[in-house]
Amino acid sequence: MPEQSRLVVKKLTPTIGAEISGADLTQPLESAVVREIEEILFDNQVVFFRNQPMTLEQQIRFGKYFGDLYIHPAAGKTTTPIGEGRPKPYASALEDHPEVIKIYADEKSVQAAGEEWHSDVMSEDKPPMGSILRIDELPSVGGDTLFASMYAAYEALSEPMKRFLEPFTAVQDGMKTYGVKSAFDNSRQYPRSEHPIVRTHPVTGRQSLFLSSAFTTRIVQLSPSESDALLKFLFDHVKNSLFQCRFRWEKDSVAFWDNRCTLHQAQWDYFPHRRVGYRVQIIGDKPFYRSGQ
Ligand code: SIN
Repeated sequence: MPEQSRLVVKKLTPTIGAEISGADLTQPLESAVVREIEEILFDNQVVFFRNQPMTLEQQIRFGKYFGDLYIHPAAGKTTTPIGEGRPKPYASALEDHPEVIKIYADEKSVQAAGEEWHSDVMSEDKPPMGSILRIDELPSVGGDTLFASMYAAYEALSEPMKRFLEPFTAVQDGMKTYGVKSAFDNSRQYPRSEHPIVRTHPVTGRQSLFLSSAFTTRIVQLSPSESDALLKFLFDHVKNSLFQCRFRWEKDSVAFWDNRCTLHQAQWDYFPHRRVGYRVQIIGDKPFYRSGQ
C-alpha cells in the first residue's frame, strides 16, 4: 500500500502558486516525496516552503533531485568591474559554487535582480526549466516576488488570437537584460535564441505564452512595426493581475518556480534596506510548440 503523504498543500490562488508544508529540505528526501513535490509544482507552476534554513550544499542537493544544475552565463563575470561607473552587481555566482547565484540589494544598489517581468535566461537555447531561491536576509517589509501563469495568459486569449500567434517565433536576447545599463559585464555577449512564442510544456502538454519585456526583442515572421505593436499588446496582456500570485518572503522561505510556464518580477520597494538570497537553476530543454489539435 502506498505510504500516505505528509505534504500539505495550500493554494495561494486558484490559478498559480501553492505553499507546501511537511517537507524538511535540509534533509535528504525520499524519491516519492521528490516526485510529489514535482507533481505539486506541475499543478501550481510555483511552490513555496517556509522555514528551510538550507546550507548551500543542501540547496544544491535539493535542486539536483530535479535535474542537473545550470551555470548562469554571467557566472564569474560580475565581480570584477570593467571601466568606471558600473553599477553594483545585483547577482553573481559564488566562486566556490558557480551553480549558486547570490541575489543582493542594499543601500548602494542602483538595480535589483529581476525587476522586470521575465522567465530566467529565456534567451538560452535550452533555458533553465526551474529556479529555486532561498531568501536569507530581508527587509522588515517589502521585497515580495510576483509570479504570473503563462498558461493563464495563453488561455485568456480569444481562439482567433491563439491561432494567429501559434506559428510565430521570437528573438529572445540576453543582451536586452544583461548587456544594457546592467551590473553585468556588458562587454560580453550573452545568449540569443529564437523560440516559439506559444510554448508546449514538455510534461503537462499545456500551452503557454513564452515572451517577456526583459528578453523578447522581435517576432521573426512580422515586419518591425507589426512586431512592435503585437509585442506591446502581449507585454501588457501577460501582466494582468488575474494571472498572478504574490509571495511574501520570510527568512528561509524557498520558492521553486517552473520557468517554462511562468514569469516573475521581484519588487524592489525596500531601498535602502538589504535583501539577500541564493538561487540554483535546473537545466531545461529546447522550447517547442506542438499543436493541441
Ligand atoms: C529572480 O530570480 O529574478 C529574482 C527574484 C527575487 O529576487 O525575488
